[in-house]
Amino acid sequence: MLSDLDLLAPDAILGLSAAFRADPRENKIDLGVGVFRTPDNQTPVMKAVKRAQTQIVDNESTKSYLPPEGAPGFGDAIVNLLLSEKHPAVKDARALAVQTPGGCGALRIGGELLKRAGANKVYVGEPTWANHKPLLSAAGLEVIALPFYNKENCVIDFDDFMSGVEKLEADDVLLLHGCCHNPTGADLTREQIDTIFDAAEKQNFVVFIDTAYHGFGEGLDNDAYMVREAARRLPSTLISYSCSKNFGLYRERAGALIAVGESADHTKALISHMTSLARGMYSMPPGHGGLIVSSILQDIDLSAMWRSELSDMREAVIGNRELLVKTAQEMQLGDELDFITRQRGMFSMLPVTKEQTEIFRDKHGVYMTGNGRINMCGVNTGNVEALVAAYKDVVLS
Ligand code: LMR
Repeated sequence: MLSDLDLLAPDAILGLSAAFRADPRENKIDLGVGVFRTPDNQTPVMKAVKRAQTQIVDNESTKSYLPPEGAPGFGDAIVNLLLSEKHPAVKDARALAVQTPGGCGALRIGGELLKRAGANKVYVGEPTWANHKPLLSAAGLEVIALPFYNKENCVIDFDDFMSGVEKLEADDVLLLHGCCHNPTGADLTREQIDTIFDAAEKQNFVVFIDTAYHGFGEGLDNDAYMVREAARRLPSTLISYSCSKNFGLYRERAGALIAVGESADHTKALISHMTSLARGMYSMPPGHGGLIVSSILQDIDLSAMWRSELSDMREAVIGNRELLVKTAQEMQLGDELDFITRQRGMFSMLPVTKEQTEIFRDKHGVYMTGNGRINMCGVNTGNVEALVAAYKDVVLS
C-alpha cells in the first residue's frame, strides 16, 4: 500500500527557498517565501523576542503540558491586541482565542469547526494564498474560487467579487484576508469591507478572516478594521491569526484561532469544540512561541519595544516598494509598476505569466512564485536595478 505513493512536486512556496539556495549564481534575487528580510538578506530575531525568551528560559521551572488553550495569558493578549480592550465583543466576553501551531493550525482548526457546525463550502477570492485550499479542503470543505483580482490592471475587481458573494447562502463560508492580501497586496477599502458585511448580515453566511500580517500594512490599529467590524457587526465570526511575521517567530509556530460568538456562553462552546478538535490532531500547541508572545504583550516595556520594531519592519517594506517604483520610473518603465506603492504588506503580484516567472528564474536568477507574487523584502538598493532590467527583458521586450 505505501509503495503506491509517488514522489510529490516540491511545495509551490517553500520549494522556492530550496531552489534558491541551490542556485550558485551570486547575483540571484530571492523574492519567494514570505519572511521579512533586511537588505543583507537576514531575518533577525526581534530584540523584544530575544529579551522575552531569555527571561522565559532563565525562569522556566517545568516543561509540563500547557493547557489546551495555550500559554497562560496568550489568548487574552492576542484578543486585546487585535480587537482592543474597548471593543464591545471583548467587553462582553464574546471574543476568546486558543493558541494554535501558527496561522496554519488556526486555519485548519477553523475549517474543522465550520465543517462540524454544518458548513460544506468555503469561498475564497482568487488568487489566494497557495496553502488555503489544502488546509481547508483537508477539513472536508469544498473550496470555491470567486473572481477577486484583475491581474492585468493590478486592482481588485470588486463588482465581480460581489456578484459572487451575493450568491452565498446561510451555511456558506467566505474567507477574507484581514489585511496585507497574500499574494496580491491589494487590500479591500473600508467601504468595500462594509459592503461585504452588509451582504453577510443579509444572507447570513459566516465570515472567516485570515490575519497573518497584522501591523505590516498601515499599523496595528488600521490593519484591524476588518476584524473589528466583523466582531462588532456579525453575530459570530472566526479569525485565524499568525505571529510568524509580526513577531518574527516563523519556526516557533505561534498563532491563534479567535472565536467571536453570539454570547459569552456561545463563545465558550465554540472554544470547547476548538480545543477538542485540536486534541484529536495535535493535543495542544507548542509552548515556546506562545510564551514569548504573551510575555511581550503583558510587559509594557517589551510591548513598546516590539511595536517599535514592527513599525521599523513595516516602514522598511514600504521603503522597498518606493525604491522599486522610483527605479522603474528612472529606467524608463513609465507607470508600469506604480501599482506597487498602492499596495500593502509583504507582497505584490507582477502582471506576468507562469512561463515568464520561469524566465525570470532561469535567465536572471530572480525567484518568485509561479503566479508572479514578489516578496517586497527581497528588493534592495543592491539588486533593484537588476530586477527592473530583468522585468524589462522578460515582460516588455
Ligand atoms: C508565504 O506565503 O510565503 C508564507 O506564508 C510562508 C508559507 O507558509 O507559505
